[in-house]
Amino acid sequence: MQFGHFDDSNKEYVITTPKTPYPWINYLGSENFFGLVSNQAGGYCFYQDARLRRLTRYRYNNVPTDVGGRYFYIHEAGDYWTPSWGPSKKELDAYECRHGLGYTKISGTRGGLKADLLFFVPMGETCEVHQVTLKNESKQKKSVKLFSFIEFCLWNAQDDGTNFQRNFSTGEVEVVGSTLYHKTEYRERRNHYAFYHVNAKVAGFDTDRETFLGLYNGFSEPDVVTRGKSGNSVASGWSPIGSHCLEAELAPGEERTFVFVLGYVENPQAEKWASPGIINKVRAERLIEKFATSEQVAGELAKLKQHWQNLLSGYSIKSSDEKLDRMVNIWNQYQCMVTFNMSRSASYFESGIGRGMGFRDSNQDLLGFVHLVPERARERILDIAATQFDDGSAYHQYQPLTKRGNNEVGSGFNDDPLWLILGTAAYIKETGDASILDEQVPFDNDASKAASLLEHCKRSFDHVIKNLGPHGLPLIGRADWNDCLNLNCFSETPGESFQTTENREGRTAESIFIAGMFVAIGPEYAALAELRGQTTEAARVRSEVAKMSEVVLKHGWDGNWFLRAYDFFGNKVGSKECKDGQIFIEPQGYCVMAGIGVATGEAKKALDAVKERLDTKYGIVLNNPPYAEYHLELGEISSYPPGYKENAGIFCHNNPWIMIAETVIGRADRAWEYYRKIAPAYLEEISEIHRTEPYVYSQMIAGKDAVRHGEAKNSWLTGTAAWNFVAVSQHLLGVRTDYTGLRIEPCLDKSLSSFTVTRRARGATYVIRVKNEGTGKVALKVNGSAIEGTLVPYAKSGETVQVECSV
Ligand code: BGC
Ligand code: NOJ
Repeated sequence: MQFGHFDDSNKEYVITTPKTPYPWINYLGSENFFGLVSNQAGGYCFYQDARLRRLTRYRYNNVPTDVGGRYFYIHEAGDYWTPSWGPSKKELDAYECRHGLGYTKISGTRGGLKADLLFFVPMGETCEVHQVTLKNESKQKKSVKLFSFIEFCLWNAQDDGTNFQRNFSTGEVEVVGSTLYHKTEYRERRNHYAFYHVNAKVAGFDTDRETFLGLYNGFSEPDVVTRGKSGNSVASGWSPIGSHCLEAELAPGEERTFVFVLGYVENPQAEKWASPGIINKVRAERLIEKFATSEQVAGELAKLKQHWQNLLSGYSIKSSDEKLDRMVNIWNQYQCMVTFNMSRSASYFESGIGRGMGFRDSNQDLLGFVHLVPERARERILDIAATQFDDGSAYHQYQPLTKRGNNEVGSGFNDDPLWLILGTAAYIKETGDASILDEQVPFDNDASKAASLLEHCKRSFDHVIKNLGPHGLPLIGRADWNDCLNLNCFSETPGESFQTTENREGRTAESIFIAGMFVAIGPEYAALAELRGQTTEAARVRSEVAKMSEVVLKHGWDGNWFLRAYDFFGNKVGSKECKDGQIFIEPQGYCVMAGIGVATGEAKKALDAVKERLDTKYGIVLNNPPYAEYHLELGEISSYPPGYKENAGIFCHNNPWIMIAETVIGRADRAWEYYRKIAPAYLEEISEIHRTEPYVYSQMIAGKDAVRHGEAKNSWLTGTAAWNFVAVSQHLLGVRTDYTGLRIEPCLDKSLSSFTVTRRARGATYVIRVKNEGTGKVALKVNGSAIEGTLVPYAKSGETVQVECSV
């Protein structure tokens, strides 16, 4: 069942009922100011850090779900309603929500009145614009009142939700005309405030929640709205809110537009006050002036759309498969931007208070982002590298505001260092900017300890070699990519974090997955060393990689697939000898991507085993059989009921590793089958089962052993976005940047007979027309002349190169 449809020409998903199977959300902003907005106008916003600088309040895990947002209530002749359906839930005659790139539009109609809401964060600004247009579509004159509503968060979201003995006494506001200022804690150490403004004279206002709602009411039935009259309340302690009341007389056919600005302002210490106790409002006034009219709003929205148009023109496809085109051209790239910005902080599944930027997560996120804004990827790589220790290991996470490693989560995830090499290589391939390798980057943010980024990559590589276990395979440490395979943890204490507990000092537990990564990513480091003329180093690296490849075949092969690990006691994990967890997806993907066993047949066997044991109609599960009971020696993986999350869920992040692996052995049919199984646009028709947004990937779809097989959770913030974009754009469609040229190696099943990819790289544009002739062998013509091989040398910036590819 569908709950909407794609509008590709406007780059929007159009939701046609407010009652989606789960809140379907969008993101506003992609620089410093961010908002989350659902199809019922739920959500919240924050400046830079979702935990420490949250402007509006949201209630996670509440009932009903999706409580708290930017609400507009309409009162007309004793009736009241909300155009977003929720929170009033009054029936609408018409409803539509359009989630676009960085903006959301919701329109609702009732009793001949249409209300159009527009939400976006203008580029370069620290505010949200909310525009409301009321149109009288009836034949009678209408006299309506519009009430706005937002609830302020007292900045630190964690504290805001827990420290009530203090917080109920700190709230402060100022009201000046149509602007409501939220200044809690401004009197002491904060130099920032928020405001909510409307560009019209108000009939009333409220800043005190209890006055607005009534103590025993929810958002569905605010006292002020049912009565049709503001309380003009000035909050003192308790819960400050922002609500305006606007009156409009509308003749038949007449419309009226109001522009609201929800802004964030920082003042330098010396400029905090206008007069004692009164905040300096100059910066707020500048923002207010900038969005004083609907023409100004239209101009800013047009700028935002143009910005996205430019970003997306870096990689686009035109084919006969509209689902493929909308994933590649619009939604997958958009999700890559969002994951790059948010890491794993704020979504409807991540509460924005728990997690910093992950070392491995951010490196992987930039694989799908680097072509969009390479300069930001560069900065990110250097930030991440600065949280590495000088022995090559790394903080698992760092905080975006301070850019310092997070002590609470610590280090010791032994896959982390290798991802830095992959991220760095992706950046250089995209841009040609090898100077990044010479950047002096601190270790553990200590400027006295700095070395070149290339040296950081070397330490990453050597960290693996220096931490080998009894079989010569890499030690797993706390965990590798699979955070839930905790082989040194042995946790018996309820609630204890599996991530941070290391109960035994183990130097036996080994990861075949890290070995696969080492073999796949090691050569990238060799190439980087060569870029800096280090040929001896490159030769050393290649010989270590070859050695590891042999070790994997010797100690990491289980007969029909690659083993997953050896545990603390040296027992096999992911072997036919195990009762549960006999086969895991991760090593099958990464070892084959690394080329291990491709020539000798193991690769094909492993991928056949994936098909047989792990594939389902909704995607490939992580392991099989699932763990039926808790295993002290395995950790969190066995804490999940069968079929969910890392215990045999369809973990969408590593499905693309199998897609890419299938292309390595040339099996296009399988690769495309796996791609289409989990790409959200192909799941639109089963939204009642899948439940999360059909325009973005979710981290997990419940696996075949789960009670709710096919149901997705944790949409938006997942490495799935980057990896699926890498798989489809670089390996299935086969267009990828390399050091000296654009590599073109499509791997196609019969579904596409031809298509055109337009790729911008290093300032030049490549128009690549691909004809699928079923030969499986790539033949290229560049500007009309045939070339040898699959590499199209980079052209000068500004040039357009015509490529014909037959395969
Ligand atoms: C989840 C993992 C996640 C980890 C991060 C676990 O509970 O299952 O997917 O990586 O938490 O802390
Ligand atoms: C989510 C985490 O963000 C990521 O780092 C990890 O690799 C996966 N879960 C798998 O456990």
